[in-house]
Amino acid sequence: MPTVFLKTYGCQMNERDSEQVARDLVARGYALTQDEKCADVILLNTCSVRDLAEQKALGKMGMLGRLREAKPELVFGFLGCMAQSRGAELTRDIGHVDLVVGTQKFHRVADYVEQIWQRKVALRERLMDDARFTIVDVEEEAGSQETIREHVLTERQATAFVSIMQGCNMHCTFCIVPSTRGAERSRRIDEIVREVETLVARGVREVTLLGQIVNLYGRHEFAKQEGKSPFVQLIEAVHGVEGLRRLRFTSPHPIGFREDLIECFGRLPKLMPHVHFPLQSGSDRILKAMHRGYTAEKYFGLTEKLRAARPGIAITTDIIVGFPGETEADFAATRDLVERVAFDNAFVFKYSPRRDTPAATMSEQVAEPVKEERNHGLLAVVNRLAKAKGDALVGQRLEVLCEGPSKTNPSRLSGRSPGNKIVIFEGDARHVGEIFDVRIERSSGFSLYGTPVLF
Ligand code: 5AD
Repeated sequence: MPTVFLKTYGCQMNERDSEQVARDLVARGYALTQDEKCADVILLNTCSVRDLAEQKALGKMGMLGRLREAKPELVFGFLGCMAQSRGAELTRDIGHVDLVVGTQKFHRVADYVEQIWQRKVALRERLMDDARFTIVDVEEEAGSQETIREHVLTERQATAFVSIMQGCNMHCTFCIVPSTRGAERSRRIDEIVREVETLVARGVREVTLLGQIVNLYGRHEFAKQEGKSPFVQLIEAVHGVEGLRRLRFTSPHPIGFREDLIECFGRLPKLMPHVHFPLQSGSDRILKAMHRGYTAEKYFGLTEKLRAARPGIAITTDIIVGFPGETEADFAATRDLVERVAFDNAFVFKYSPRRDTPAATMSEQVAEPVKEERNHGLLAVVNRLAKAKGDALVGQRLEVLCEGPSKTNPSRLSGRSPGNKIVIFEGDARHVGEIFDVRIERSSGFSLYGTPVLF
């Protein structure tokens, strides 16, 4: 059977979609490979959130085209967000691309790959003439959110993503996601609980619920009950799954992050003490231009409430620098708020104009060197804060879920603390997939280093 190389760019949602595609291909008898040179089918699951992500995938596809010299029947496909936004343009611009599948059609990928593969094999055996055959499917499909629900698990896999909804209705002026992912639509609570139960029965200890705006889960489909939003109802239901040890979600929006959700952090022990809470800017003027729907003070208030509900909770964030019209004073407001909140960590992005988004055509675009300087300046603050948070944990015992060998040094193991910090330690196979205490001895700012206690 053919082998498939599947590379994923971008967010956890994309990772999760790729897992479903991988599972579908494996179910048909395809084998997965990490080595593109061995592959018969090459699929890139793409990201459009910044231009750099698109350029990376386009560059990679260009390079991979050379592999056809040794293997003319290779199948090449683009999946996901950039496939959705560029569609047939991709098959026109890159001569060897056979397949383009958008964000609502991941469940069709295996079928399409099969069709193209069969055709190429027939061509090789001279059963057909050499007409180019491409498939482009970027249609919308009602119910597509229900199709991301199966997993191929690696041995002793301890943690898994669960996709609970698709799409976004927020229309932040910088963001391409509403057009690549479509409108918000959610799966049912019982379906999601069943998926989590299946994962737990297969040995998974931790799940992360995924949605573009995860806390707005179910708002169009399901009613509030006893003052609880559908998302809180879902959290409670998943929390109740026996054998599940840890629960996380990502990413929420400050809009709709209400008391009922904050209160969960004080009451539900499996809900881990970490929130990735995108801020985007600390300037009210810029937040308004971004259509974020909150002020800096409102955001700060939410972080204080979270910290009151669960002392020590880790808070991380996303920030964009150089949004159109951002002045030095706006940037200073962002920097000040970052200091005040004292984030555990933050991703800082330079604003990247996206097609068909309102901010792309706003006047007062910020010059690249200014974006660069602000990016640099803010990262210095973020790194200092992250280092201080890490240092404060040195000497403590933290409960760690061991995920497997460290990516940077496979002779050591890596896991996550409750606050989602990476913890590196010496251990062996019996640690993988288990939860145990690690005494923290050192912090690098990015990771913590320690020794397992009594295990
Ligand atoms: N330019 C730069 N960063 C962006 N993000 C979203 N759109 C853009 C853009 N046009 C960032 C936001 C979001 C994260 C996933 O990517 O900070 O939270």
